[in-house]
Amino acid sequence: MNESIRNKMKKNFSGLQGGLFTTVAKADVGSAYHDLQKQGVSMMGWADPFYPDPSIPGHLLDRAVEILKGGFPSHYTMPIGNEELKEEIAKKLARENHMTVDPKRNIIITPGSDSGLLYAMMPFIGEGDEVLVPDPSYPSNFLNAELLGGKSIPVPLKADDNYRIDISAFEEKLTSKTKMVLLTNPNNPTTTVFLREDLEQLARFVCQHDLICVVDQAFESTIFDGREMISIATLPGMEERTVSVFSISKGMGLSGFRVGYLVACDTIMDVLFGGAVNVLGATNTLSQLMAIEAFRNPQFVEEYNSKHDRRRKYAYEVFSKVPGVKINMPESSFMCWLDVSELGDSTEIVNYLIREARVACNDGKAYGPQGAGCLRLIIGCYWEDQKSFDAIERMADALRGLAKAKGM
Ligand SMILES: Cc1ncc(COP(=O)(O)O)c(C=O)c1O
Repeated sequence: MNESIRNKMKKNFSGLQGGLFTTVAKADVGSAYHDLQKQGVSMMGWADPFYPDPSIPGHLLDRAVEILKGGFPSHYTMPIGNEELKEEIAKKLARENHMTVDPKRNIIITPGSDSGLLYAMMPFIGEGDEVLVPDPSYPSNFLNAELLGGKSIPVPLKADDNYRIDISAFEEKLTSKTKMVLLTNPNNPTTTVFLREDLEQLARFVCQHDLICVVDQAFESTIFDGREMISIATLPGMEERTVSVFSISKGMGLSGFRVGYLVACDTIMDVLFGGAVNVLGATNTLSQLMAIEAFRNPQFVEEYNSKHDRRRKYAYEVFSKVPGVKINMPESSFMCWLDVSELGDSTEIVNYLIREARVACNDGKAYGPQGAGCLRLIIGCYWEDQKSFDAIERMADALRGLAKAKGM
């Protein structure tokens, strides 16, 4: 590595490790994770529904062929996104999120929601700004503020109450530099769907201290047991100070399309429109045209959700019987969160499970300080339920082996 070139970089970038000079254990950095797949390990640390099996619904496949034959996808879409797609999204926002927006003014299409998340923060966060990030939550939430020169401040969730919001913890972390609350709802990795009363408290906190809220709702369409999904932007005082981040990767299982979208008021969106070509380029034209079809005919999402429902029940049933493992019934998404702290260090357990169970899951430490001692397991991988069940059983057997060795 050329140190003198590296030293010219900004401090918040020069420390990044992409796997070229060191081995990086993170699933989404470098190639170490895919190397495991080549060795036949089950990839259960990759939040990609039905990965690695083919899963494009038939009507979308037909539509893709039709669109390609039409020839238009060789051209750009405007950097702010396809208008027809935004009209479909506005209908969905009204129907499902109770958000009334003007598709021409309040929606921008992004190449997936990861880039959207960073872009949503970019106009607000710079040197010295502090971003309150619930802990545990999505790893990008902690890195994004740092990439922009700011500081992410982990705010512990209530671990003993399925990681609900603890407003007193937010108050404790508030300083004169606090600029933003960055929330993932439903939360990845804990699957928590935040309660209306907790979000109302958080919204009051945000308004009272004149903060901005960025909320990532990537998992909003996979929610179980009739829980209520509240979009925080709809709560009093929040519309003007919230950027809502959405994706078709998770609920619609279309991660490879790379389509996400941001929703915000005119004041914020004017700036996001203004910088779109420089920061986002433009989202893939074919993907956007296919996404229109997905929003018009989204019935396949129900089938996906019933698969995820079967799997969470199976995983809960199996892991809750393993000594030394604690699991809450997943409230959303296609993952489960296991507290294995009684069995040892979570990093060592991840490596042990790769060796013994041929399963790769995520070390909870990546999700914030409170994640230490926990594992995140994606149970929504593979198209066939049985393949996921088999991997769950292998993992449970290996964990039972650990418990036995500890005399549990
Ligand atoms: C909470 C959350 N937000 C956003 C993303 C990014 O998804 P995409 O860029 O595919 O929309 C992920 C992916 O794992 C995620 O877990």
